[in-house]
Amino acid sequence: MDGSNSLAMRDVEYHLHSQTDLRAHEREGPQIMTQGDGVYVVDAGGTRYLEAMAGLWNTALGFSESRLADAADAQMRRLPYYHTFYHKTPDVCIALAEKLVTMAPVPMSKAFFTNSGSEANDSAVKLVWYLNHGRGRPEKRKIISRLRGLHGVTGISASVTGIPRMHVDFGLPLPGFLHVSCPHRYRGGLPGESEEAFATRLAEELDALIVAEGPDTVAAFFAEPVMGAGGVVVPPKGYFEKIQAVLRKHDVLFVADEVICGFGRTGEMWGSTTFGMEPDILTCSKALSSGYFPIAAVLLRRATRRSPTRPPGTGASGTGSRARGIPWGPRWRWRLSRSSRSGISSAMCARWARGCWTGWRGWKGIRWWARRAASA
Ligand SMILES: Cc1ncc(COP(=O)(O)O)c(C=O)c1O
Repeated sequence: MDGSNSLAMRDVEYHLHSQTDLRAHEREGPQIMTQGDGVYVVDAGGTRYLEAMAGLWNTALGFSESRLADAADAQMRRLPYYHTFYHKTPDVCIALAEKLVTMAPVPMSKAFFTNSGSEANDSAVKLVWYLNHGRGRPEKRKIISRLRGLHGVTGISASVTGIPRMHVDFGLPLPGFLHVSCPHRYRGGLPGESEEAFATRLAEELDALIVAEGPDTVAAFFAEPVMGAGGVVVPPKGYFEKIQAVLRKHDVLFVADEVICGFGRTGEMWGSTTFGMEPDILTCSKALSSGYFPIAAVLLRRATRRSPTRPPGTGASGTGSRARGIPWGPRWRWRLSRSSRSGISSAMCARWARGCWTGWRGWKGIRWWARRAASA
């Protein structure tokens, strides 16, 4: 590291990094990025890199898309912030919710907005708990996910995450968060075991865990279509079909974490479509704004097959936060590459990324969703 007042020294002195070995960081210092240009980034020394990982799978539209910058600028000048408590909503919030619901891989009814993928999964867990409370079965609240799956870093979403490094030193996972095997056939398959047989064994493992825990205590199963941070693990043939049969048998909700896979990354708009998943709840983020600003969404299925026994609780729910009102982008119209294999048309993506949020209003919608599920 050069000079005592250099950017690098100041970074070591003042900046606490995410997911970084802090001692090694003191020795080695940061790599400082100063510019983005299409699929490239440039560091403080002027070296240009191909960002092959799109900045942790975010910048689906590259690092210098001026339409996004212009739209954000226009919105920041028109209405830079507003909240969604007490029936209020920024106008752009409505259009984005409608767009997401209508483009979902399975019929969905509501979108709930958050700032990050972690918060989206955190909220998804709370929504599952809320639904089961409303259905008169509050004890049905355990969450199952897979080892190596990454679902976030908040207390709840880190508990859903199946990466031990993200649990040790934090006293996680919280009680009631359980993990089954990763569908990694190369590492987890038995000698001579076919893809299909491996998938069957994993489904049986899930079934056995739910039975052992008691189906009346297990609320939901979380899975990424393709596991990203866990090693880009593509599921074995037939895996999700078999897993979903187990979930249906035990009345366990299926949450698809599309934070990485959503918006064309698997060749279809959604990883759920690619792998035949029919989630009850879907979370998405990252390419939703190409990483240009923090936004994520939770989509809730129109009605589940599993009818609740009574309508959900009444009164105000206690979630949905203030920091939900940065409705950037009323003119934030973007499109994914026309040449993308997903065939996403400009019409589908126009008027996209109208970020903002639902607090109180959102919860009204969720109660509506739960009531609708109740009468299904
Ligand atoms: C599949 C998946 N879910 C959730 C998250 C958490 O998202 P965020 O970093 O926006 O909190 C990540 C982060 O990389 C992820 O890969």
